[in-house]
Amino acid sequence: MRALSGKNAIITGGGSGIGRGIALALVRRGANVMLAGRRPDALAAVAAEIDALNGRAVALAVDLREVTACEQLIDATRTMLGGIDILVNNAGVLAAGRLDEHAVDDIHAVVTLNLTAPISLTRLAWPELMAAGRLMVVSAMSKAPLPYASLYAATKAGLAAFGASLWYEGAPVGVQVLTAFPPGTATELTAPLAAGRRFYRLANPLVVGERIVSALEAGRTEVAWGPVSRRSRGCIELHLTPRAVSWLRCVGSSAKPTESGPSSEHAARG
Ligand SMILES: NC(=O)c1ccc[n+]([C@@H]2O[C@H](COP(=O)([O-])OP(=O)(O)OC[C@H]3O[C@@H](n4cnc5c(N)ncnc54)[C@H](OP(=O)(O)O)[C@@H]3O)[C@@H](O)[C@H]2O)c1
Repeated sequence: MRALSGKNAIITGGGSGIGRGIALALVRRGANVMLAGRRPDALAAVAAEIDALNGRAVALAVDLREVTACEQLIDATRTMLGGIDILVNNAGVLAAGRLDEHAVDDIHAVVTLNLTAPISLTRLAWPELMAAGRLMVVSAMSKAPLPYASLYAATKAGLAAFGASLWYEGAPVGVQVLTAFPPGTATELTAPLAAGRRFYRLANPLVVGERIVSALEAGRTEVAWGPVSRRSRGCIELHLTPRAVSWLRCVGSSAKPTESGPSSEHAARG
């Protein structure tokens, strides 16, 4: 076990969902946290929960798509917490819908938040992480194809490749790199998919955060759920059901999902 007590952790997207779950799990182990996200009210609510646990939380309202945001977050953490031991690259947005429905600006925005920002933050924090630090990367819920969420899937696959590759750079210099593949979780991100439908059972973000932090504490390099965890070392050939594909398609368009699944010839095999 690697003690987390007294460590300073940045959690991007710490104001909601899985990021909140990770923040609370870290605080329960005695870590201090910097919560980052755009909404000050969401950050303040999680900081208040942490105060009630007698933990230490600071927060920075920041849009990680802005050019100077990553430097701002790293600098603020050094100033407010005194250093960085753990970086949790968790913030991300789901971009669902047909690829041709995405505007070029949206593509840049999604890639910037989901992929460029984690890489930039890691680069900036790396010198400090080399002093026995940990890096946590939250990727997609599986390594499977995600039809009608190809932009999201591409950024998350990139993040997974980043974590897996950086593990080799981190190991010789004492940086633990953990890549997490959470299951479908009940958060704001999945709310449009799940609304009013029995999509599939979604996990509790607090439970997910706890399990991810346990994996970090145990020194693991990967934490995954379901088929991914059983087959993560091999080539995954997993396909969503037609109904799930239909729902993903409809999040990006105004059409209602069909009960019988997608009619598109591009639908994945069930
Ligand atoms: N839920 C799932 O089923 C699932 C499964 C696998 C992986 N994941 C991944 O888990 C991570 C967390 O997602 P979640 O499910 O917990 O959803 P969530 O509650 O929507 O969390 C996303 C977080 O990212 C922050 N964020 C979004 N845009 C931002 C920006 N431009 N700058 C800074 N922060 C920004 C949001 O805060 P603000 O809106 O205040 O900025 C929010 O706190 C994501 O990377 C997601 O891809 C989720």
